[in-house]
Amino acid sequence: MRLLAPFVLCLAAATAACTTPGGLEREPMVAPILTSAEARDEFTFARAEVARVTHLALDLELDFARKSVGGTARLDIEAAPGAEEIVLDSNGLQVARITAPDGTPLPFSMGTPVAGKGEPITVDISPSTGSAQGLRSITVHYTAAPEADALQWLAPEQTAGGTHPFMFSQGQAINNRSWIPTQDSPGIRQTWEARITAPKPLEVVMSGLRLSAPRDLGDGRRVFEFAMDRSVPPYLIAVAAGNLAFRDIGQSTGVWSEPETLDRAAAELTDTPAMIDAAEDLYGAYRWGRYDLLVLPPAFPYGGMENPTLTFLTPTFIAGDRSLTGLVAHELAHSWSGNLVTYASWRDGWLNEGVTSYLESRISEVVFGETRAAQERALSFAAVEEAVAQMGAEAAGSALRTPAELDPMEYDSTITYDKGALFLHTVERIVGRERFDPWLRSWFDAHAFQPATSQMFLADLRQNLVRGDAALEERLRLDEWVYGTGIPANAARPDPAAFVAVDAASSAYAANRSLDAQAWGRWSAAERMRFLQTLPDALTAAELAQLDQTLGLSGTGNAEVQFLWLEAALRNRYEPAVPQAEAFLMSVGRNKFVQPLFQALVDQGDWGTPIARRIYAEARPRYHSFTRGRVDALLGVEG
Ligand code: BES
Ligand code: ZN
Repeated sequence: MRLLAPFVLCLAAATAACTTPGGLEREPMVAPILTSAEARDEFTFARAEVARVTHLALDLELDFARKSVGGTARLDIEAAPGAEEIVLDSNGLQVARITAPDGTPLPFSMGTPVAGKGEPITVDISPSTGSAQGLRSITVHYTAAPEADALQWLAPEQTAGGTHPFMFSQGQAINNRSWIPTQDSPGIRQTWEARITAPKPLEVVMSGLRLSAPRDLGDGRRVFEFAMDRSVPPYLIAVAAGNLAFRDIGQSTGVWSEPETLDRAAAELTDTPAMIDAAEDLYGAYRWGRYDLLVLPPAFPYGGMENPTLTFLTPTFIAGDRSLTGLVAHELAHSWSGNLVTYASWRDGWLNEGVTSYLESRISEVVFGETRAAQERALSFAAVEEAVAQMGAEAAGSALRTPAELDPMEYDSTITYDKGALFLHTVERIVGRERFDPWLRSWFDAHAFQPATSQMFLADLRQNLVRGDAALEERLRLDEWVYGTGIPANAARPDPAAFVAVDAASSAYAANRSLDAQAWGRWSAAERMRFLQTLPDALTAAELAQLDQTLGLSGTGNAEVQFLWLEAALRNRYEPAVPQAEAFLMSVGRNKFVQPLFQALVDQGDWGTPIARRIYAEARPRYHSFTRGRVDALLGVEG
């Protein structure tokens, strides 16, 4: 008899012993490896069905002078009977030796590097190595390259305080293999523990619970210990170190940031406990113990990163009026969609990001009210319409699951995030919240701490929500949503009232350049963004000056508004905005802002390209490898 898909191969394994404060209940098994075709991860060298990592113990030293980390990684492994080797992922690691528990060196080889993937480390774990029956762990002694993709080392002048260096890691998508020798694939979940040393007075934080107070080593360094006793996809292992302070913002939630940023950060994050309550009401208990946030220096390449127990955030979310905290709702929501239930393959990006964007919208609605949520949905819908119009409704890239002919790392975020969320809004609208909400919650429960695929999501939906209702099945168009292109005809359209006032103002501006500063003053951040997004493409210098003066655009404290202003100014060759654009690009490394601003300059050929090159020459060393890669490609700079 054949088993129904998805067939799972379970290498039963107990998680390694490590205790955590806070009394988390133990998760007994590490997640099984999915073997369906949709679950295959083409970016890993691992052959998990032969031998897999179940637990990782890091013992590392952060070296700020050499901008490198090094030490040991002990890997607990589960091997199929007769397995002779285990294959790990790495990228630029210098491996000195690999040893068995008794210290015996194990034979290993580093493969040839493959573009975009790094190089495999193949370790001999056969009994003939002398380590005998069922070798359970190996220890890799290594150093990461100073230019490791995951790590960014900031000079003191890139921090708010200006006197201490700072470092952080960004694991997603496949960066962690540049500082951790493990099987770096989202379907190979691992528990982990870490011992990290750093020079005083720097504080080290990680995406797991702190085991103890930092201890002084007496040599100018301190040691920090952490553990994550829930299995996670390895891209969620994260570290940061800098001059950090902490403040509580709720019972089991708080914020870390440089002391200079702490007041503003904590004030902006006041709604976090309400967001956690809203998410738990909808999707069940938060299962990670604490929920803390780390506000990074502006060089951070993303808006936010959902590292478990410790969301990493750009400081550009601080607008002073909590108008950009949808970002927090989003990263928190990943505690269910993405971290609890995780895509096995990078081709199912929507399963993490689209589902999360939907959860974000539901949390926003509870915490900020229906008006704001409806506006955010309308912005998101407009973005999908524009993206699909631009690429064409038949474009392969408009499908939620990235098809075989495309590179899943080059996905269009509007499709993955906004079309993904639109799919769930659509199902919700068709079946009703009373049925959809419990189903989604049951999906998270049934697959908690496990990998998943598009196919599994649809199968679960059919089995537990559609339940053979042929008329409903037809109305939902499930396969068309996930595997088809364009926007399916049943899409839940946003409330047309969401932006009536703004769109009227926008038409008036287009018709006769009339501006209503008072209305602008009353508008929400989403309304202001809508207005700036619907400005005429071509504007004269006089019109831009008037917009800036009347609406106070260059003086705004809202990074999204500032970005849209700079984009409009640069695409119209507005010289007075160049110094501000330069200052922005010299401090902010968030790719979502940086890449389009360089693009706006490059689009202006003779005028903009020299400006872009001049600014980039100075700014490039300040960017994370991800942002650098994107802008290098745009400007034709050799990496
Ligand atoms: N997980 C993503 C960031 C990410 C995605 C990093 C893919 C690397 C590869 C995070 O949750 C995210 O979506 N961030 C967005 C937030 C926004 C959509 C609210 C960002 O950084 O802009
Ligand atoms: Zn996300």
